[in-house]
Amino acid sequence: MQQLQLFPNRASTIGTGVDHLYFYLVGVSGFFSILIFTLIFIFAIKYRRRSPADRAQQIAGNVPLELAWALIPFGLEMIMFFWGASLYFRHYQAPPDAEDIYVVGKQWMWKLQHPEGPREINELHVPVGRPFRLILASEDVIHSFYIPAFRIKQDAVPGMYTTEWFQATSVGKYHLFCAEYCGTNHSRMTGWIYVMDPGDYQNWLSGGAPGESMAAAGARHFSRLGCAGCHVPDNSGRGPSLVGLYGSQVRLVGGRTAFADDSYIRACIMTPSVNRVANYPPIMPTFRGVISEEELSQIVEYIKSLNQGARIQP
Ligand code: CUA
Repeated sequence: MQQLQLFPNRASTIGTGVDHLYFYLVGVSGFFSILIFTLIFIFAIKYRRRSPADRAQQIAGNVPLELAWALIPFGLEMIMFFWGASLYFRHYQAPPDAEDIYVVGKQWMWKLQHPEGPREINELHVPVGRPFRLILASEDVIHSFYIPAFRIKQDAVPGMYTTEWFQATSVGKYHLFCAEYCGTNHSRMTGWIYVMDPGDYQNWLSGGAPGESMAAAGARHFSRLGCAGCHVPDNSGRGPSLVGLYGSQVRLVGGRTAFADDSYIRACIMTPSVNRVANYPPIMPTFRGVISEEELSQIVEYIKSLNQGARIQP
């Protein structure tokens, strides 16, 4: 099958499940297509105008037959539904130990950054056997991050984060495509995923130019943009402290609560009026149009790093 390339390589933990569901769907559709077309031809020949077949018996109703053609498809479709739903939930809930990789789509390239610092363009290096969560954003229009060998595809949508996760199962080089028409050079918005041995990956990580970590870059922006003036760690500032924020429940104005994940932090920075924290004055300005998606993701990574005790001084 792999030599024929009827099918893309399969190189992620979710791949087998997706393929089996696909085979089931194709099998059910194929079986009924063949059945229906065969019966059409049989009846067309049997009841052609000059055939002597008996037409006198009119059938007014047949309960067992009607039950069969209602219940059998219903059962087959329920299997599709529950099987698909269980795969979907597995697919969209990253394991807690997944490492984050930030992906920004723009016309017409993919920019990727590992929290440790390395940046890549249209290429992603990952070790085999470890889960990764992709946090996707777009600088302009909708793009879609598609790795056929991993059986994953997720849109990158302007103004929000979307996520996706994978765990690669075999070392190799796999295609990356943009799967959403995004303008003139959409078809050239492609790249490669390199799945490496853990040892080779460590070499790769340490071999590149020693880049600044995302959290350190975020700390720089945090200081440059004046965020540190209000968000003082001991809560004595005009804004809430951000230490311990990530992953916590936040009380908002009006008694609502919000879970502080990547999307929440992003929304607080870009549309602060929507997620106002209870007991603080509405003085936070929006940073929409002020910072790029990459800078934003670095600030988010910096705010996450405040949880781990290893506080990076801005
Ligand atoms: Cu980006 Cu198509």
